[in-house]
Amino acid sequence: MRDAVSEVLTVEDLTVSFPGRAGIPTPVNHLSFALEAGKTLALVGESGSGKSLTAAALLGLLPEGAQRTVRTLRLAGRDIATLSEKDRRRLRGCDMGMVFQNPLSALNPSRRLGAQMTESYRLYSGASATAARKQARELLTAVDIPDAEKWLESYPHQLSGGMRQRVMLAMAVIHRPKILIADEPTTALDVLVQTQILNLIQRLQKTYGMATLFITHNLALAAQYSDTILVLYAGRRLEYAPTARFFQGPRHPYSRALLDCIPTLGRHRRALLEISGNAPARPTESPGCPFAPRCERATPECVRALPPEQGDIHRTLCLHPLEPV
Ligand SMILES: Nc1ncnc2c1ncn2[C@@H]1O[C@H](COP(=O)(O)OP(=O)(O)OP(=O)(O)O)[C@@H](O)[C@H]1O
Ligand SMILES: [Mg+2]
Repeated sequence: MRDAVSEVLTVEDLTVSFPGRAGIPTPVNHLSFALEAGKTLALVGESGSGKSLTAAALLGLLPEGAQRTVRTLRLAGRDIATLSEKDRRRLRGCDMGMVFQNPLSALNPSRRLGAQMTESYRLYSGASATAARKQARELLTAVDIPDAEKWLESYPHQLSGGMRQRVMLAMAVIHRPKILIADEPTTALDVLVQTQILNLIQRLQKTYGMATLFITHNLALAAQYSDTILVLYAGRRLEYAPTARFFQGPRHPYSRALLDCIPTLGRHRRALLEISGNAPARPTESPGCPFAPRCERATPECVRALPPEQGDIHRTLCLHPLEPV
């Protein structure tokens, strides 16, 4: 289906579970996807669907009690499934850049930005303090922060939310990572700043040729900023398709329902559609399709066993998918 040569990250059968805790089902369940150089994969799903745990599993930053199993985890041709803690730290520091929803949680409130940025750069580059300072200045300029020298002397709380996220981006790309993982990077920002930040991510991605994993619950943003889309539900991949094809005609009833929930101009006086039932806050372990209890097309077979995935370029985990367009 995809050109293996351009795959920067290959993930096959990634599962995250909490084995010591009875009653907690599998929040990420045999998930497979690939990231390609210079391209963006949007990982889309409702709250609790397993998006952040997926990112944490890739980074080796799982919460206490969680266990990861994976059949294949390869970064730029290198097996990274079994690494020592030291190598894993280096991987996070150099090869994988990260941006999260709340930049304040990732920045040290009591240290000036310059110190934090230069320390992060020197850790793996071996650069001198002067060279690291120059690098930090250049990166702040690259993320559209003018007067870089002044801001290097400031503390995180002195910056606006948008500026903090720019600083996080600068720090994420400081070692020219192969992939950028952005977990809801703009959810806390107003819509204008959100657009600026997402455009900036696109620009950095082009400049550095990074593959990006863009985690969002916002399908409209996924439409605009991704090349491929993966719909996650209760830890399962329900649909996986090139973004343009997905929006021409999603094939999983859940994806269709998600799209129908997006408010559009001109429809504002009508009640917005909603999906009946709730996404499982803690998905129940069932042998069938996790969406079956809420699905209008479900039949008894859907509950009995997990359906086989259909399609090649446009994949759907559904026994009764919508017709392709
Ligand atoms: N430390 C933990 N212990 C037990 N269960 C957890 C833990 N962290 C996450 N989970 C469970 O795993 C599931 C997936 O969580 P995750 O944080 O990946 O969701 P998410 O898709 O990122 O949601 P959101 O959009 O709200 O950020 C949830 O059902 C959550 O309750
Ligand atoms: Mg999350």
